[in-house]
Amino acid sequence: MTPWLKKIHRWLGLLIGLQLVVWMLSGLMMSLFDSGEVKGKAFRAPAPARVAWPTDTLPVGQLLQQLNLSAGDVSSGWLLDEPIYKLSIGKEKRLYSARDGRALVVDAALAQRIAIGSYRGPGQAGQAELVPRSLETRAYEGKVWRVPFSDAEDTTVYLREDGSVLEHRNATWRLFDIFWMLHIMDYVGRADFNNALVVTAAIGGLWLALSGTWLLFTSFSLADFVPAGMRGKRSFKILGADGSQLRTLKAGSGETAFVAMARQGLQLPSNCGGGQSCSLCEVRVRGVAPPATASDRAMLSPAKIRDGHRLACNLPVTEGLELEIPGGAEALSQQRAKVERVTALTPSLREIVLKPEERAGAAYRPGSYIQVQVPAYRATPQMLDTTDASAAVSKAYRLPESWGNESPVRRAYSLSSPVELTDGRISLLVRFMPAPVGAAHHPPGKGSSYMHLLKPGDTVHYSGPFGDFAVQAGDREKVFIGGGAGMAPLRAMLQSLLAGGAKERLHFWYGARTVAEAPYVGEMEALAARHANFQWKLVSSEEGQGGAGNAGKLVHLAAREELLALGLDLGACDFYLCGPPAMLTATRKMLRELGVKDGQVAFDDFKI
Ligand SMILES: Cc1cc2nc3c(=O)[nH]c(=O)nc-3n(C[C@H](O)[C@H](O)[C@H](O)COP(=O)(O)OP(=O)(O)OC[C@H]3O[C@@H](n4cnc5c(N)ncnc54)[C@H](O)[C@@H]3O)c2cc1C
Ligand code: FES
Repeated sequence: MTPWLKKIHRWLGLLIGLQLVVWMLSGLMMSLFDSGEVKGKAFRAPAPARVAWPTDTLPVGQLLQQLNLSAGDVSSGWLLDEPIYKLSIGKEKRLYSARDGRALVVDAALAQRIAIGSYRGPGQAGQAELVPRSLETRAYEGKVWRVPFSDAEDTTVYLREDGSVLEHRNATWRLFDIFWMLHIMDYVGRADFNNALVVTAAIGGLWLALSGTWLLFTSFSLADFVPAGMRGKRSFKILGADGSQLRTLKAGSGETAFVAMARQGLQLPSNCGGGQSCSLCEVRVRGVAPPATASDRAMLSPAKIRDGHRLACNLPVTEGLELEIPGGAEALSQQRAKVERVTALTPSLREIVLKPEERAGAAYRPGSYIQVQVPAYRATPQMLDTTDASAAVSKAYRLPESWGNESPVRRAYSLSSPVELTDGRISLLVRFMPAPVGAAHHPPGKGSSYMHLLKPGDTVHYSGPFGDFAVQAGDREKVFIGGGAGMAPLRAMLQSLLAGGAKERLHFWYGARTVAEAPYVGEMEALAARHANFQWKLVSSEEGQGGAGNAGKLVHLAAREELLALGLDLGACDFYLCGPPAMLTATRKMLRELGVKDGQVAFDDFKI
């Protein structure tokens, strides 16, 4: 539950967090206002001293008789210095002099006089106006007399139609009222603090507090409450894929296998630094594996989970745990290589050939990858501009003046050629990763920038090889579909198959936005010319040079059309996919629609 809870907590936190800031700020502001100033007390005349009710007034019963009225509600009071009776007849209010029963009407002149009587500031009264209800008199239903005063506080006195003083409003109150509106989230009437918005925000706030509390509790383990030096150590074993024991390691209580291994010099591959989002740290638990977590289920296939595979960065070490790691422990130790050659193949793709200190051997299968250690560095666009192609990159991507990497990270790069054909060298094809579209303020990728800064003679630290993306043994017909840097492992596989004399039919659809962005076009054409069993199709999604009928198309659609046109027995084919995540998703969906089973499809997700 925790990963999706974290996600919702994060996004809801963003929304509700903004409202919480508004609540806090408006609450703080309101508490800073002087309530006397808000109520306009300084310019408000005190209520007149009570004068004894005159003895010569008409009895109210006589007045009602005179008017032939049976009043629902009668009260007495003063209108300035006139004793009056107020009669409520239905919704109507009438005023009568208590001395002689004369009907009295509050007109503009009288309203102005009453307002002046309730005011003691330095301002002059303006004309009284009968106005409809407004935000300043929102608590009162009917029309009101409005009398403005020319003082620094912009005071306005409001009277009811019967002449009683309703409100003194001023500039301080108006400002206070804006914070009140923001606080109660009633942006229209500014009165209803049970409105749907405020109720929703309050529920969201409560949910945020509860989920935050839950996440806080789940982020602790019992071990956190024990000082580091006093925590019990657990030992666990690292095994090779064949079951041979490679190392016995110690882990602090609550430590994950990923952290414990890294602390003891065995760095599992990782593109996310232990963030449970790259799946590269996958290990296999021998014996009974702990229940899969949501992150395991999100990153690993159900078959792998059943087989005991787990993310090491999400796997707490228990006493006696036994972990199989792909490639064995030596793959996790650091190795060094010299950059031998760098070739800008397209504006954003570079072929980088490394000569390892120790010749790369059979473990470096086509489809496997190495983890390059990316050190701290600073980069500028000028440092990239060593070729025409890379000059085009910095122009196209509007690179920042400088960017870089503050602390070491690791990144995976696939072999783009079989090591048997490169005399033990490691050939990579690296795509420059600019900021995502619409987010130009972010710096370009840390790893790909570092790789594009490399020059012949530089030293690169790496570990590996890793990965289970590999050509299946056997001579089933094979279909390769790729795009972008996904060319790397597919090319290595195809080169290996063709050089090894594969006789089965091999089909390769490669997609690029433009032909200029497609690497190894000449090489693929030459291979296709040399090997009758190899068909190669370049598909460009934008311009009209992708080969007959293959321009302006997405690679998975072009592949679909041609797979059907070729009339292949798809159930007898194996499929190998590698490319950008959207292409991978679309291609896998397309293959499922054509009836291809998931088990026939191998793919590598670079997540770029
Ligand atoms: C098994 C495997 C094999 C691979 N093989 C290859 C290969 O052969 N060739 C290849 O080119 N790649 C390959 N990759 C991908 C490679 O490992 C890197 O993921 C890729 O180079 C991008 O890493 P980076 O460090 O350059 O980008 P990162 O630094 O990880 O950044 C990724 C993106 O995020 C953007 N960004 C930066 N900061 C922010 C921010 N604050 N908010 C939002 N966005 C931001 C960056 O601009 C960039 O676009 C492979 C990956 C895997 C998993
Ligand atoms: S390190 Fe990335 S998922 Fe574990």
